[in-house]
Amino acid sequence: MPGMSGWKQVYDWFERRLQIEGPVKDAVLHKVPRNTASWWYVFGSAAFTLLMLQVVTGILLALVYVPSAAEAWNSLNILNHQVPLGWFLRAIHAWGSNFMVAVVFIHMAQVFLFGAYKFPRELTWTVGVFLLLMTLGMAFTGQVLRFDQDAYWGLGIGVFIMSRVPWVGGGLVHLLLGGPVIAGATLSRFFALHVFVIPGTLLFLAAVHIWMVLKLGVNEWPMPGRLVRKETYVEEYNKLAHEDGIPFVPGAFWKDLVFSGAVLAAVAVCAAVFGPSGPGGQPDPSIIQTVPKPDFPFLWIYAVLSYLPPSMETPFILIAPILMIAGLLAVPFVASEGEKSWHRRPIAVLALSLVAVSWAVFTHLAMSTPWSPHMSAWSGDTLPVKYLQEATPLVRQGAVIFQAKQCRNCHSVDGRGGERGPALDAVATRMTPDQMRYKVVTGGGNMPAYGKNLSPPEIEALVSFLETLHPANEPPAFDASRHLAETSSAPQPVSAKP
Ligand code: HEC
Repeated sequence: MPGMSGWKQVYDWFERRLQIEGPVKDAVLHKVPRNTASWWYVFGSAAFTLLMLQVVTGILLALVYVPSAAEAWNSLNILNHQVPLGWFLRAIHAWGSNFMVAVVFIHMAQVFLFGAYKFPRELTWTVGVFLLLMTLGMAFTGQVLRFDQDAYWGLGIGVFIMSRVPWVGGGLVHLLLGGPVIAGATLSRFFALHVFVIPGTLLFLAAVHIWMVLKLGVNEWPMPGRLVRKETYVEEYNKLAHEDGIPFVPGAFWKDLVFSGAVLAAVAVCAAVFGPSGPGGQPDPSIIQTVPKPDFPFLWIYAVLSYLPPSMETPFILIAPILMIAGLLAVPFVASEGEKSWHRRPIAVLALSLVAVSWAVFTHLAMSTPWSPHMSAWSGDTLPVKYLQEATPLVRQGAVIFQAKQCRNCHSVDGRGGERGPALDAVATRMTPDQMRYKVVTGGGNMPAYGKNLSPPEIEALVSFLETLHPANEPPAFDASRHLAETSSAPQPVSAKP
């Protein structure tokens, strides 16, 4: 072990070559206005702490996760059940993501309220807007990597939205999915996005963002009547920071540390209490998921879409995001000078409150999903026992398939189930087995086609179950021509296509 002077020599050797002492000292000891050592100013550093948490836990997850359509779901289950604390790692990563989205939004609201985007910090805000978009991009691509039911349907809806972009929509979808449908290539693309492209951009932009914060100084506490003027601002700020300022470390820094620590603890508690999210069922396009729940920050979009008249949907989907992003980017250029204090910026306060209240209202509505009351309550209901009494093994197998394929998401039986398709209680009196077979295999009229997702024996079992669905006093329908064919000796053409 080298002694004290030995360490000093090692340090000097590196310092002579890296020359990093000066810049670090500048950054650590630079003076900031006294009032900025406030609990209001801790969200930016907390967002960065969460980003670091996501990087570390993400790398650990990548050691086990297999980005292949066949293996992804399995590897998550291995993490959940076989790797020691693997479930906790997944939970931390998922909750870290939720917290990061929330903290980034709060940070943004604070910066907006404190006028911190005004001259000379316009570019800091602009980069911040892109950081927000990257953060949301990470949340979305991360959900897809689960490659479970939710991921599958979430992505399906996402690309459906995308496909509505005029002219280039189809091309964009193809590019994102790596083909016309969600398949193995899709997962590879999202893995590349989630692990290389977006985080690379995110870290680079975060570095630029922090560089500007250090160079331009932390925004001073807004005072009513102290106006920002381009000609005088820098001088005034320097006076404020130097005459009455305190060094960034430890003056303001300890609050950042305490808050970041508290946020990390909150993530750990949520992870331990609520556990990892999913993976849900294996993706199966023939199972119509009840409601593919988007992540919390996106929930409001569902509510807005469902309250809009259908004719407004496409314009809203295409125009609203562009307007929102353009609006955010425009903020520092519309109001780059003038009053910073919220006491004298009623429009800014009103706008922020409006956004916050509408977000809360629509999120609440989305959670209670008033427009799809039949879409979740019954999906797990098992068939009443009376349908299975005295049933043959084949009929019972059909009932199991009926259950597993969630036919009752759209069809009610015994008064429970969805209403997109007709109730099936007496279907056997309306349709012959051949007609039912044909309907199940080919679908049509809003009924999914199950031909590719059920084997012929499964379809047989399903149809023999459907055949039992008729009132006791009403016999099931039968194919008269076939009946004739079986009873008479002459061969008859059998046709049952409806
Ligand atoms: C996404 C909703 C949906 C799902 C899931 C669904 N169906 Fe349907 N189904 C419909 C709709 C809508 C119709 C009416 C189609 C039409 O008008 O041609 C229908 C029609 C039918 C019919 C004809 C009924 C009649 O009276 O005309 C049968 C039989 C049927 N479905 C069976 C099934 C079975 C079995 C399953 C599960 C394997 C299933 N459906 C899953 C929506 C669905």
